[in-house]
Order: sequence, then C-alpha cells, then structure tokens
Amino acid sequence: MVFEIKAYERKIFSLISEAAAEIDAPTYIVGGYVRDRILGRPTKDLDVVCVGSGIELAKAFAQKLIPVPRLVTYARFGTAMLKHKDLEIEFVGARRESYRSDSRKPAVEEGSLEDDQNRRDFTINALAISLNTEDFGSIIDPFNGLIDLQNKRIVTPLNPLATFSDDPLRMLRGIRFASQLEFDIDPVTFEGIQQMAGRLKIISAERIATELNKIIMCRKPSRGFMMLDEAGLLEQFFPELTALKGVEKKFNIAHKDNFLHTLEVLDNISKHTDNLWLRWASILHDVGKAVSKRFQKGVGWTFHGHEVVSARMVPKIFKRLKLPLDQKMKYVQKLVGLHHRPISLTKENVTDSAIRRLLFDAGEELDDLMVLCKADITSKNKDKKERFIRNYEYVSEKLRVLEEKDKIRNWQPPVSGDMIMEYFGIPASREVGMIKTAIREAILEGEIANEYEAAFEYMKIKGEEFLS
Ligand code: CTP
Repeated sequence: MVFEIKAYERKIFSLISEAAAEIDAPTYIVGGYVRDRILGRPTKDLDVVCVGSGIELAKAFAQKLIPVPRLVTYARFGTAMLKHKDLEIEFVGARRESYRSDSRKPAVEEGSLEDDQNRRDFTINALAISLNTEDFGSIIDPFNGLIDLQNKRIVTPLNPLATFSDDPLRMLRGIRFASQLEFDIDPVTFEGIQQMAGRLKIISAERIATELNKIIMCRKPSRGFMMLDEAGLLEQFFPELTALKGVEKKFNIAHKDNFLHTLEVLDNISKHTDNLWLRWASILHDVGKAVSKRFQKGVGWTFHGHEVVSARMVPKIFKRLKLPLDQKMKYVQKLVGLHHRPISLTKENVTDSAIRRLLFDAGEELDDLMVLCKADITSKNKDKKERFIRNYEYVSEKLRVLEEKDKIRNWQPPVSGDMIMEYFGIPASREVGMIKTAIREAILEGEIANEYEAAFEYMKIKGEEFLS
C-alpha cells in the first residue's frame, strides 16, 4: 500500500530522501507520525529512521534547508533533532534493543528496519513509510498495523510479555492509546498487561504521571481508569483512589460506590472543561471518603468532613505522583476543600452571609467550583437529581445577585492595615490584624456595606474597643 503524501509533506520527504541517497542509508518515517496521519489526527513529531547514522543523515538533510536550521545532536543515543516550520524532526539509526530486567535502559545495537520495527510497542506504532527512491511512499507493515488501525485494536507486535518486559511503561501507553484513540486492547495483549503489572514498579513517577495526565485529558477518561484498574496498575500508583471501590451494606443500607461515582464526576466535568487541574479536582474531590466513612445507627452511612480530609490528602498525592506542588496543587486543594459548600446550601438554610462567605472563600475559583459541583450531581434517583439541580441553580442565582450587589469575590479590604496604623498612630501589631478581621467579618455578615466610608466608621468603633 502507498501512503498518501500531502502537498505540504512532499518537499520535506523528498529532501530527506535525497539526503538519504547521498549518504547511502535506506531511510523511513516511522511510529506515531505514520499512525496519526493515517488516522487523520494532527501531528508535529516526525521520526525518521535510517539504516546507518541518524546524525549523518540529519546533517546532510539540514544542509538542504534555507536557512540551515540548528541541529541538536545526542551522540550518546545516536540521535539528532531539528525544527522545521512547525515540525520537530528526529533522526536515528535503526536499532535492535535488548533490555536488562532490572532497568528500562536498553543496550542498543545497530540493526535493520525489521529489527527496529520489532522492538516497537504496538502494531499501530510499528508502521514505516519508505523514503527510498525505489519504493518512495510505500508503507512497510510487517505486523498488520493497518488492519489494527482499521479495526481499532491495540496489539503488541511480539509476545506481549516480551514487549512489556522490555519496557513496562508500555502497559500504561497501551491503555493511554486505547483511551485517546477510543480503541480496544486485544484480549491477549490485555492479559499480558495483567500478568506484567507488577513490573510497573521500575517506572518513574514522572513518566507514570505523563501517561496518566494524557488519560485524564481524554474525551471519556473513566474508560482509561477502568482499564488501569482492571489491569492491576491503578492500585500501585493511586491506592487512595482504588480505596474508594466497592459498596458496603449494613442493616440493608448501602452507600454508593465512590470509585464509580468519582469516575462519573470526572466524565461529567470533562464535557465542560479542558483544564487538567479542574479535572484533577474532580478525581480528588471525594478521595477522603474511604477514611471518613462511618455507619451511624438511625442515620445510615455518613462521610462527615470528607471534603476537609480529601483536601488534606491532596499535597501527599501530588508529591508522590510528582505532580506540580505549586499554585496548581493549591488550586486543586482549594476546590476539593470547598466542593461541598454550594450544594450544602439549600433553600431552607441559605442566608446572605453564607453566600457572601462562599464568594469570599472561593474568590477567583468560584466559576470552576460551580462547574465541579454540577458535575458532582450523579444521583440515579430522578427526584433527588432534580432536587439537587434545582438547588444548584438556586445557589448559582443567589451567588450572582449577591456578587453584583456586594462585590465580595475579589475582595480587597476597603480599609488597609496602613490606614488603621495611621489613624490610631500605632505600629504593626496584633490589634491591627484584629481590627481588619472585625471589618471583614462585619462585611461578610452584612452588618456594614462593602465600602470605604462604612468600613472606616466601623474601624473607629472597633479601634476604641480593642485599643482601650
Ligand atoms: N515507542 C515504543 N515504546 C515506548 C515508547 C515509544 O516502542 N515505550 C516507539 C513507538 O513506535 C512510538 C515511537 O517509539 O510510535 C515514538 O514514541 P513517542 O514519540 O513517545 O510516541 P508516539 O507514538 O509518537 O505517540 P505520542 O506522541 O502520543 O506519545
């Protein structure tokens, strides 16, 4: 079969082909580029394999471009990389690899195209396009990868045990590709993952997190999580999540399966946001439920304070998974800690001060918090679900009206610490903080308006009280 070369590719492919002829090295495009182009997915990484020196080929090719691009070479790996327009092109010599069992660092030897295709992870990633004069553009497909692309199947080219033992990260990659491309994993390949799952322990947390985040960014991430769980991978790096699995029953009262609920919330939120960290907030929103679960006679199952417990667990989970510990973690922690607040405000108990406090606490994150809360409504009971949605809409409207009136969301104290110090002629002290807090509380409680004059008058009263 011949690959349909697009107009924008023809020039580049021909120049690589010319360079290959000059150094007399048979050359091919391989891997993800071929897969994605056949699937019609956008792709910017072009991997070129030659039977010879990848670095030499890259040099010969670079000379043909005007201006000559900067070449980044990694002599130790025999690779060279350059950027051309929006393509990142990497050149490497064809290799055979054998892996030691205690490491994922391969021992590399020169090899043929066939050797190179053999060592690849999945049949759909082992396709090559020839750039050689005699069969320019033809597809070399030793493992029927084209058929697997058509049938939407993830299959290893060799015995799955060998493929996964060579590089256990591939178990996650397989599930990630199945999630991203919405493919199925071939049953024998999947059994291979189950058998080799324990080998994941040699893979670094960073690489696991990269794959996991890609799964989280899929259209329907729950599918990837279910596969990770069934494969026996999820519990190894995310035991807090698998601890939510299952339903316990006492005196005929059962609670919901919080693992399935979490995945449903994640799918729900994924329909409304591409913000990875908001998706993470949905994954972690109930993560403390396993430890806060109690059975109370006459009441049933309770998870009191689970949002506080969940928020407290966020830094530890981020640290272990090597996710960023900066503002992103703080953002996730904030949303997790607040996720129960809007929905616990019901028509019966909602007061303006409770709404003002929510506006104040959520601040910038209010909109994202409300997206999370809506996604959290997963009840299967129609009446209950409608009640929750009505309540959610009621609270949203209240938030909108009160924010318009009081402007609490990006609250800045109308009277600053400096003003307090200047008026009373006092240095920075505990009392200045007490006066500031008192003003804030009075505004949130609705005792005074959120404006300078009212706050200044109130400051005078509180100053007398605290400073006398
Ligand atoms: N590959 C492999 N085993 C790995 C990683 C990569 O066999 N653990 C091979 C596959 O043939 C893959 C190619 O190297 O197609 C390029 O890898 P990479 O750039 O990581 O992945 P892509 O397949 O291009 O896909 P993506 O960019 O979505 O990760």
